[in-house]
Amino acid sequence: MKYWNHFNPTKIAFGNGCRRFLIEKISGKKLLIVTSNRGKMQIMQDQILSQILKDNYLIDSVTSNPGLDLIREELVNIKDLNFDALIAFGGGSSIDTAKALASCLNTKGLNFDIENVIKEPKKSLNRNLLPIYALPTTAGTGSEVTQFSTIWDKKNKKKLSISHKNLFPKMAIVDPELTYSVPFDPTFSTGLDALNQSFESIWNKNKTPFSIFMASKAIGNSIEAIPRLLNNLGDVQARYLMAEASLLSGLSISQTFTAICHSISYPITINYEVDHGIACAFTMKSVAKKVLAENPDCFKEIIFYNKFSSPEKLLEEIDYILEILQVRKKAKKLIKTKDNLLSISNEMITPSRSKNFILPVSNKLLMEILNESYD
Ligand SMILES: [Fe+2]
Repeated sequence: MKYWNHFNPTKIAFGNGCRRFLIEKISGKKLLIVTSNRGKMQIMQDQILSQILKDNYLIDSVTSNPGLDLIREELVNIKDLNFDALIAFGGGSSIDTAKALASCLNTKGLNFDIENVIKEPKKSLNRNLLPIYALPTTAGTGSEVTQFSTIWDKKNKKKLSISHKNLFPKMAIVDPELTYSVPFDPTFSTGLDALNQSFESIWNKNKTPFSIFMASKAIGNSIEAIPRLLNNLGDVQARYLMAEASLLSGLSISQTFTAICHSISYPITINYEVDHGIACAFTMKSVAKKVLAENPDCFKEIIFYNKFSSPEKLLEEIDYILEILQVRKKAKKLIKTKDNLLSISNEMITPSRSKNFILPVSNKLLMEILNESYD
């Protein structure tokens, strides 16, 4: 008999306007708000949220793919301040930065060094961290409900990950209205991340009936919403579907972790500056075809829950999304030649992710995936 378990302690509020729940949660608390410059403007202009800026400390320096230097600099800036909670407002980068800062902040006034936290997470994170209230403003990473924080060592071109059960935010407040103003490119690169993460948790050794159900629903939502948003960025029902897809994909990977597409994507992002969602989606069709060939039942729940007529129809849907979003073209614009892609292949198999993949990972398999994806 196969056993399975499920653990995710993050409380979730989802729905249009639900950001108002934040206000009652934070009453009387001293807050550290972590966001980007764009996020700051969005908070300032928001009728419900603008009041949180008063009397609280704001970090608005987050950029995409946050680096070690940002974390170190901000820790120096806040070293003499005390907080009761963090607010993470923005895309995955803002939420991951808030998690990294919370990892280093000690409520007794001593700060941990970010590199030590990354090297020895158990030593520094087995304690009560400051609670994080996460408000995603993009529909993509699902970081609001995961235990992961991705930080980049830009000097050495390396992705650094922290994964620990104490990094789950205390509460995720997922309000689709916050995503209405996301511009064209991030709407689709984050949407591709949500779609890819859902598939990653399906072709995954750690999947459970619960994670399969959530990922299947996320895939159905994404396949419906992405073409609608491409036609009309102002389609609020499609924004709702994508916000839900992103949340469900985060919940799925919080149980299964990601797999081979994410493993391959990280050196592509750090070496060629390909957006995370595009870099993950770049190999998705090739991986899906291989999974289907070796394990025809792998997609049966996605097909059942979403009423697709066959696995081939599902592959057609994936192909259609990748085509209309020009994933291969966008990736190849930055990875100029196949030799460029193959030159970083030895960095693409990280055991923490590739070991979750349902098929045996070999160099031959990797080369086939890279060749099929690039040609
Ligand atoms: Fe991702």
